[in-house]
Amino acid sequence: MSHFELRNGELHAEHVPLSRIAAEVGTPVYVYSRAQLEDNANALREGLSVLPRVHLAYAVKANPNLAVVNVLAKCGYGADIVSAGEMYRAMAGGVPAADIVFSGVGKKIAEMEAALDAGIGQFNIEIEEEGRVLSDLALARGTRAQAVLRVNPDVDAGTHAKISTGKAENKFGVAISDAPAIFGRLATLPGLVMRGVATHIGSQIADLDPLETTYRRIGELVAHLRSSGHTITHVDLGGGFGIPYTPGELYPSAESIGQMIARATDGWDVTLMFEPGRVIAGNAGVLLTEVIWVKPGVGHPWVIVDAAMNDLARVALYDAHHEFTAVRPTGEKMIANIAGPVCESGDTFAKAREIDVVARDDLAVLHTAGAYGATMASTYNSRALVPEVMVDGDRYAVVADRIASSTIMAAERLPEWLAA
Ligand code: LLP
Repeated sequence: MSHFELRNGELHAEHVPLSRIAAEVGTPVYVYSRAQLEDNANALREGLSVLPRVHLAYAVKANPNLAVVNVLAKCGYGADIVSAGEMYRAMAGGVPAADIVFSGVGKKIAEMEAALDAGIGQFNIEIEEEGRVLSDLALARGTRAQAVLRVNPDVDAGTHAKISTGKAENKFGVAISDAPAIFGRLATLPGLVMRGVATHIGSQIADLDPLETTYRRIGELVAHLRSSGHTITHVDLGGGFGIPYTPGELYPSAESIGQMIARATDGWDVTLMFEPGRVIAGNAGVLLTEVIWVKPGVGHPWVIVDAAMNDLARVALYDAHHEFTAVRPTGEKMIANIAGPVCESGDTFAKAREIDVVARDDLAVLHTAGAYGATMASTYNSRALVPEVMVDGDRYAVVADRIASSTIMAAERLPEWLAA
């Protein structure tokens, strides 16, 4: 069930009419549904309950808003982080340090130190040298870092090239053929407890086959490492589960994901770790926007909305599809292009799409914008940084303020030698 539905002819987030949020907070604005986040978190947990031991770490990068992280922490999710900034957010959002997993191909020393000092639960090592540095840093603190080695299985996830991470030519992890030797060397280091392996082949994966192929390769590696005398207690299978962006698209259910993983990991006897982002946050958010103008165009009119590529970059970056619907649809349809005010043609959300008829000042939403939406926003064209709202039943709160262009400008200054 979606928590963004028409009630009395008007789109609501749970029990709150979106027109109320637009009137009180302004547009553009991201609107999240707490209930949708919880439903998604619980559905995935339920689907994976066929597995013996599971650790769920929400991929903070998908939506790092403190309130979102807090809802997921309350659902018992840990956090997958890729920077010290995400670590502080996870902890401020209520995730115990022990439930935090630090992924990422470019951890800086200061970030590893901060993570060791915070006592996070696991480091996912991507480079042998990184493991050596981490060992030294841990030893200097009189501790040992719990770690796994991220492996690149050379599997094509069948997703957009820019979000594919598990092919040999991608920058992530160590080649699976090199993994046993690297693991063996890292396991001798006194500051590390090498307890397993990790993988993550990409995001918005539609098909379970590449995931199953990956997991089977990882299973062979685990058997190999064990036969070499290593103790493997944890395997981190990453995230990447895709979600529908277009009505009618079918994606694997949490149940079918769980069944596939149960099959592929049968007999592993480890704690299976997951780093889901999009599947938790994606359909829990919309970007609410107002139509500024409807401009005649060659072929189709241009619906110019007040949200733009700086607020939601996914269309410009990945040719992503986000459904566009009116907040108060009349039932009539039109074919139009949808674009924002930013001065590039790339700032186009849809071309020649059949949409609800909208006119100047009407409200509309871009759907499924809860993951990789606000977090990828910028202030390009000196636009404000887009605010975020969370709805909970019949109440809502602004969970991130709109940051005015003037506030951004206040952080800039003229050097003395220009001000004269
Ligand atoms: N774990 C690791 C190591 C990752 O790199 C990612 C995503 C995740 C977990 C979470 O993946 P998810 O479950 O959300 O698919 N900005 C792009 C997506 C980038 C994904 C980056 N890594 C987009 O808007 O489609």
